[in-house]
Amino acid sequence: MLTQEQVLEILHGIQDPFLHKTLEETGGVEEIKIKEEKNHVSVKVLISKTNTAEQMELQQTIVNALKSAGAVTVGLRFDQLPDDVIQKFQPKEEQEDQSLLSGNAGTKFIAVASGKGGVGKSTVTVNLAVALTRLGKKVGIIDADIYGFSVPDMMGVEERPVVRGEKIIPVERFGVKLVSMGFFVEDNSPIIWRGPMLGKMLTSFFKEVEWGDLDYLLLDLPPGTGDVALDVHAMLPSSKEIIVTTPHPTAAFVAARAGQMALKTEHEILGVVENMAYFESKETGNKEFVFGRGGGVKLADTLKTDVLGHIPLQQPYEEEDVFAPSVYQADHPTGVIYRNMAAKVIDKY
Ligand SMILES: Nc1ncnc2c1ncn2[C@@H]1O[C@H](COP(=O)(O)OP(=O)(O)OP(=O)(O)O)[C@@H](O)[C@H]1O
Ligand SMILES: [Mg+2]
Repeated sequence: MLTQEQVLEILHGIQDPFLHKTLEETGGVEEIKIKEEKNHVSVKVLISKTNTAEQMELQQTIVNALKSAGAVTVGLRFDQLPDDVIQKFQPKEEQEDQSLLSGNAGTKFIAVASGKGGVGKSTVTVNLAVALTRLGKKVGIIDADIYGFSVPDMMGVEERPVVRGEKIIPVERFGVKLVSMGFFVEDNSPIIWRGPMLGKMLTSFFKEVEWGDLDYLLLDLPPGTGDVALDVHAMLPSSKEIIVTTPHPTAAFVAARAGQMALKTEHEILGVVENMAYFESKETGNKEFVFGRGGGVKLADTLKTDVLGHIPLQQPYEEEDVFAPSVYQADHPTGVIYRNMAAKVIDKY
C-alpha cells in the first residue's frame, strides 16, 4: 500500500514540462488522496501551461510512476500554477518577451482603437487615463500613433522626457506617465520613417522606458487596421481593447472592422465608447443627436460587448492656470462620465 509520503516523493521528482523545475521546487503538488481499500491514488498537480501535448505526456509519466509503485488506479487532475510562481521560474529571455515591461508583470494593457480617424480615440485615451488615475490607479499612456501623435498637445505637455542611463523617463501629467513620438521629433516636422522602424519605435516605448510600477498602460492606436495596430496586436497578446465610434450607424459599421481585428488576434474587447453621442443644450437641457443615433449599441451588439459610455459633444472648461485643452475636469459633466467609465473598466479588468 502506497502512503502519502511515498506518493509525494515520487511526484516531487517529476519536472514541470515548461519550467524545467521539479514539482517540489515549483510547489506543484496540490493534493494527494489515497483510497486504501481500492489502492486508488488521486492527485492534483499544478503546472505552468495546461491543456498541452506536454501535459498529456506528463500525465503518462505520473500514472506510470504511481502504478509501478503499487497504485492500482490513478486519478489525475491538472491546474495552472499561480502567475507569480510561473514568473519566478520562467527562463529569463521568455520572461522579457512576454512582459515587455521589465519587472512589471502586473500591468494591464488597454489598446484604444477605432475604424476611422477623428472619432476621438486620443481624447478617450487621455481622459480614461486621467479618470483611472483619479480613482487611485497608476497609469501610463503610449501614444502609439507614431505619425499622427497628438496626446502631448491634448494634455498640454510641453516638456520632454529625460534620459537616465539607458532608460527614458516618461513625462508625467495629472499623474499619468506618457511617452509619445512627439517627444522625439523637432518642431512638429513630419515623420518619414517606414515599416520596420515603426515596429522598433514601438518596442522601445516598452523596453527602453522606465515605466515603474503601473496598473494600466493605455495605448492610443492610429486609426484603422494598419501596420501599427497589427504590431500592437502581435506584441501584446494579453492586451484588451476599447473601440471608439461615433453614433452614426455607418461609423459603427467601419469600427466593427477594428473590432473584428481585435477578435481575430484574440484580444478581448472591453467595451465600446460612443463619442460625440449627442449635443445637450445648456439653455433647455434638450439632447440633439447631431451625428445620428444607435451606433454604439449596434457596434457593441455586433462585437458581443457592452457600451462603456456615451460621451456628448462638449469642450472641457477653460482654466486660466492649467493648460490641457482636451482633459475634462473631475467636476465637468463629461469628466463624471469618464469617471464612471473608468470604474467600469476597473470592474471588468
Ligand atoms: N466629445 C467631444 N466633444 C467635442 N470635441 C471632441 C469630442 N471628442 C473629440 N473631440 C475633438 O475631435 C477631434 C478629434 O478627436 P481625437 O483627436 O481624439 O480623435 P482620434 O480618433 O484620436 O483622431 P485620429 O484618428 O486623428 O488620431 C479633436 O479635435 C477633439 O478635441
Ligand atoms: Mg488620435
